Amino acid sequence: MTKLSVNINKVALIRNARGGNLPDLVQVAMDCEEFGGQGITVHPRPDERHIRYADIPQLKTVVKTEFNIEGNPTPDFIRLVLENKPHQVTLVPDAPGVLTSDQGWDTIGQASFLKKVIAEFKSAGIRVSIFVDAEEKFVEGAKNVGADRIEFYTGHYAHQFYKNKEEAVESHHRCAILANEIGLGINAGHDLNLDNLRFYKENVPGLLEVSIGHALICDALYYGLNNTIQMYLRQLS
Ligand code: PXP
Repeated sequence: MTKLSVNINKVALIRNARGGNLPDLVQVAMDCEEFGGQGITVHPRPDERHIRYADIPQLKTVVKTEFNIEGNPTPDFIRLVLENKPHQVTLVPDAPGVLTSDQGWDTIGQASFLKKVIAEFKSAGIRVSIFVDAEEKFVEGAKNVGADRIEFYTGHYAHQFYKNKEEAVESHHRCAILANEIGLGINAGHDLNLDNLRFYKENVPGLLEVSIGHALICDALYYGLNNTIQMYLRQLS
């Protein structure tokens, strides 16, 4: 079974546009779960342009499924995660000011840093996933630094999907087999949508979780949040 974790960053972005509390992020998180979402993902960035650090404790008290906090492990981020103890932390090497995450970790070059940070989270009982491109050396590197899971960066897959979907998914398929062999759990995310999700799931054995934000919230403008979550769940069934 592949779980759908709804990334609610875009909801926070709309809220922040007016300075009030509309839409109410905490209510939306509860509703996503009510509508069938199997996890809630947030990605606080240093400029707090969508999720704010102050949102996290409130969300932590209401999320009943799986709470996943993702982001670049700066000292502030590490403190936030350790204080709030989500079920999972996903480490993402995004530079400050970047529009969105666009690459995974160099799990070899950054091995000593990753090992230290991952050990800190794991000793606090938090499952650690790290964002990687679908390349064997980075998957092996993720195992060596002690990650529990990897999250495949699916941006390139999504962009190539419309040209040649078999080619687009090939490296993910190969790396998933490797991850399964060496005992790493597999998550995936970025630019997944109603067109490309089912094919991805069918070709990535052992896919445990996808986190989806941008396309899902855009679809919800047309179909409503409840229907949209059902539509994504159907792609994963
Ligand atoms: N995974 C990571 C690490 C991300 O940074 C993001 C975007 O915040 C996502 C998944 C979700 O991507 P999207 O919003 O394109 O669904």
